[in-house]
Amino acid sequence: TGKFFVGGNWKCNGTKESINKLVSDLNSATLESDVDVVVSPPFIYIDQVINSLTSRIEVAAQNSWIGKGGAFTGEISVEQLKDVGCKWVILGHSERRHIIGEDDQFIGKKAAYALSQGVGVIACIGELLEEREAGKTSDVCFRQLKAYADAVPSWDNIVIAYEPVWAIGTGKVATPEQAQEVHVAVRDWLSKNVSAEVASKTRIIYGGSVNGGNSAELAKKGDIDGFLVGGASLKGPEFATIINSVT
Ligand code: 13P
Repeated sequence: TGKFFVGGNWKCNGTKESINKLVSDLNSATLESDVDVVVSPPFIYIDQVINSLTSRIEVAAQNSWIGKGGAFTGEISVEQLKDVGCKWVILGHSERRHIIGEDDQFIGKKAAYALSQGVGVIACIGELLEEREAGKTSDVCFRQLKAYADAVPSWDNIVIAYEPVWAIGTGKVATPEQAQEVHVAVRDWLSKNVSAEVASKTRIIYGGSVNGGNSAELAKKGDIDGFLVGGASLKGPEFATIINSVT
């Protein structure tokens, strides 16, 4: 469904020097042309990355403020992201939900605001291990989806990232079948609760321990439209391999 989409979420990693090297590796990599690629550096390096990327790779922030800027110490507004050329923002990542404590409604409002300013949203969802073991995977994903759906006026500029929390940074990648099963359920939810058109057009990407060795098998599944990569996106050649696993 749609063009393959691969994002590299660098999380809270990197230095000016390591990021310089990573960008130069990406600049010299050969990337399949039929893939949308974004990288997501920490805020403080976004400007450096945008100014040194020479390819068509776009940049995503890892978070944004819920509304217009002003007296909000420590926050970064969507307008500021746009000012430096940032076209996307990752919202609802499990690390922000479960470590920082952001809730569904807060994330929904952030998504709506970013979209209102023309910034694309990589909208993350995903269940904890205990939720999966309790048979609640779809309940949790649907609840998180509903919070986005209730808040946003349109799905045109949204990519959904399914990231089961138990697979993030653990080396325990979901099997292609496990990921496909949830992606199908998400698409079905969109079809019933938003529209058939949105369900067929919206890209649903998978995240959680994706690497250069497992991406090709995952990419074969019909409802896996790309990846959101953490650790393996910090290595330029491996990230290129993942991008090029498009089928
Ligand atoms: P890892 O690829 O390191 O498991 O992280 C996935 C992730 O959280 C991407 O947003």
